[in-house]
Amino acid sequence: MKEDKVLIFDTTLRDGEQTPGASLTVNEKLKIAFQLEKLGVDIIEAGFPRTSPGDLEAVKTVAKHIKKPVICGLARAIRKDIDDAYEALKKARRPRVHVFLATSRIHRMYKLRKAKDEILKAAVDAVKYARKKFPDVEFSPEDASRTEPDFLAMVVEAVIKAGATTVNIPDTVGYSVPREFGGIIRGLKETVPNIDKAVISVHCHNDLGLGVSNSLEAVLNGARQVECTINGLGERAGNASLEEIIMALQMRKDMFGALATNIRTRELYKTSKLVSKLTGIPVQPNKAIIGENAFSHEAGIHQDGVMKKRVTYEIIKPQDVGFEGNRIVLGKLSGRHAFSARLKRLGYSLLDKELDQAFVRFKALADKKREIFDEDLTTIVEGELAMIPERYTLLNFQVTSGNRMSPLASVELQEGKKKISATATGDGPVDACFKTIDKAIGLKGRLVDYKVNAVTSGKDALGEASVKIAFKDVWVVGRGSSTDVIEASVLAYVNAINRLSLRRKKLGKKGK
Ligand code: KIV
Ligand code: ZN
Repeated sequence: MKEDKVLIFDTTLRDGEQTPGASLTVNEKLKIAFQLEKLGVDIIEAGFPRTSPGDLEAVKTVAKHIKKPVICGLARAIRKDIDDAYEALKKARRPRVHVFLATSRIHRMYKLRKAKDEILKAAVDAVKYARKKFPDVEFSPEDASRTEPDFLAMVVEAVIKAGATTVNIPDTVGYSVPREFGGIIRGLKETVPNIDKAVISVHCHNDLGLGVSNSLEAVLNGARQVECTINGLGERAGNASLEEIIMALQMRKDMFGALATNIRTRELYKTSKLVSKLTGIPVQPNKAIIGENAFSHEAGIHQDGVMKKRVTYEIIKPQDVGFEGNRIVLGKLSGRHAFSARLKRLGYSLLDKELDQAFVRFKALADKKREIFDEDLTTIVEGELAMIPERYTLLNFQVTSGNRMSPLASVELQEGKKKISATATGDGPVDACFKTIDKAIGLKGRLVDYKVNAVTSGKDALGEASVKIAFKDVWVVGRGSSTDVIEASVLAYVNAINRLSLRRKKLGKKGK
């Protein structure tokens, strides 16, 4: 079967940045753009240059550094917007301008106060003007899904004639439903005589939670470019999520036939994490594909099934979207089988009687604690529920930080009779402390997870920090509590290192 490409147009840096509360600096946009290039997107919409000098600068910077994908800038159907887009994109290897103008009756009447013929003329003039500056021009009839079908077809035909290379059909307010939206695309394919001269694109918002479904239905009806965002960010309820569209196309080839994209799915998780970190918008844990729970199996029956054959309850291999490691979470619903399999993976093979006793202790702990990590299991098996031998104890630490300096930490630890200390800087006060501890001990840990929770209420609330650290191939967790969250974090890190020492000792390994 001949492969048919669906182009992925990522608008995380433009529509995604319109997410309430999200805003990105030029440097942050560039970082995300590099990752999008690695992910394999075909087009990056880097911003809307006319809106601010900062956005113009961001598009310019992305255009200068990112070579593989097409770099696109948004513009209203106004000459000065197109000029600014040109200014921002003139150094791009493959520039595109994306011109938009609303066509629906609601927008014509209340927002633009223009008649159909005025809209048609403005769209054609803008596309003609844009084509003088850009070889690649995309046109969007904004609110297309609420536009009268015959007028929409008329606009699409006219802008293609004027030189548009891509025509994007937005469901601007996320109002459409899949059957209807697919019908709009099919209708345009059937009625617009020059439709084959441009790529049909779609851009679906998620107000009814249908952004991805509408995009997929459009693809089934002939759209060959999909506009989407990482983590489904975007105006109001967001845009169709890139990761969900990609994995649906990939997992359901029986439905989508030979449709393919250039996306490297193993980069999805990393991209999602980066976008979440830089925008400050967290990903909901149960988010499809990249949510923290997307590959976690809580019920005992499910865990048992996954261990017997992954496909029983897991349709996607976590590694295929870039998840690290095994995500089975042990909790109070976990069965004996999952418990024993996990112990085997940790290197313990217990006699039946020993296993019974350990399982009773595991269940008691699971009643108190929601998630049980490998280290808790190690503790259970070793019969040391509370006590981890303290090879290292924290004597004191100091950290200075501010908005115009690199945080600087110094830490002193006791190891047996010796005192060890170090000083180092880091990306934040907590990172500086962790790096200082690594330096004092001669280790290199990678922070995989870090959480701080208040365990009591009020101003003097006790903060409990938990860290998950990877020391080469060994992952350990550590916990610490204090009314000072930095101290709680330092104690958690030292606790993790003590657990690492214990683990190494048990396994007869040398080292820290
Ligand atoms: O949602 C929308 O209609 C848009 C256009 C600019 C394409 O974002
Ligand atoms: Zn939009």
